[in-house]
Amino acid sequence: MSRVVYVNGQYLPYWQAQVHVEDRGFQFGDAVYEVIEVRGRQLVDATSHLNRLSRSLGELSMARPMSDRALLHVIGETVRHNLVRDGQVYLQVTRGAAPRDFFFPPAETIEPTLVVIARPISKTAQDAKAQQGLTVTTTPDIRWGRCDIKTVMLLPACLAKTAARKAGAREAWFVDPDGFITEGGSSNAWIIMQDNTLVTRHIDNKILAGITRATTQRAIEKLGLQLDERSFTRAEALAAKEAFATAASMQVMPITAIDGEKIGTGQPGVMTLQLRGVFYSAAEFTDI
Ligand code: PDD
Repeated sequence: MSRVVYVNGQYLPYWQAQVHVEDRGFQFGDAVYEVIEVRGRQLVDATSHLNRLSRSLGELSMARPMSDRALLHVIGETVRHNLVRDGQVYLQVTRGAAPRDFFFPPAETIEPTLVVIARPISKTAQDAKAQQGLTVTTTPDIRWGRCDIKTVMLLPACLAKTAARKAGAREAWFVDPDGFITEGGSSNAWIIMQDNTLVTRHIDNKILAGITRATTQRAIEKLGLQLDERSFTRAEALAAKEAFATAASMQVMPITAIDGEKIGTGQPGVMTLQLRGVFYSAAEFTDI
């Protein structure tokens, strides 16, 4: 549970933290966000997350609310207020509040909204989940053409993940019109082929360049494993030896079934768990 939330310069009790009714994040989804893991009161891969935030802001011609240094300070304070040792920070920047109009208001007339939420997540519970693994369902990728920008326009992901849950699964994998898996509703998608080659989709505007994905790539290099960055089909995924998802909210998370069909033995894969085990040795830790 989050107790104190940062909103536009104030640390407020959770239920009193509010933004304006004409905030463009609320009316147009005109907002970007980041989720950063907190582990042992340190941030995991903060530099990369803040760099991606800058990129998302830049792609949408949105103003920065403050410098990265100041952002790290606010994140640190929010983490301390909420007594988070292990958990996550959610950071959202919107273009700001203005009378409803589709056109972007001139930059000098609007102040960005910044919200930072920190909440604890039990490391033991997450590790227990990883020992079990998740199941996924596949669904057509109905999202827009700029999935490389981390915007809050997440309705397709909400629909897909809710349908997955109804089917008894935890994550949804999007499939493009050519039958290729793009990524998960809130994670990147990976498979391990029968010859032990790891495969994850190449980066372009159809997927988010996951920070956890990049750290996992470094872990793969460290272990001397083979990686192929290319599109893969649902059929390849069903025939894979192992599958997993990566995201700041789950690190490396084994996938044991896709659309009700077991992947490999139907248990978390050996290589996947090995990667999960070495993940943090490839990550950057930042004191806050
Ligand atoms: N989601 N792809 C999508 C569509 C995502 O929403 C996410 C993260 C990722 C993985 O990115 P990263 O490794 O940088 O977390 C890939 C966050 C965790 C969320 O929305 O909760």
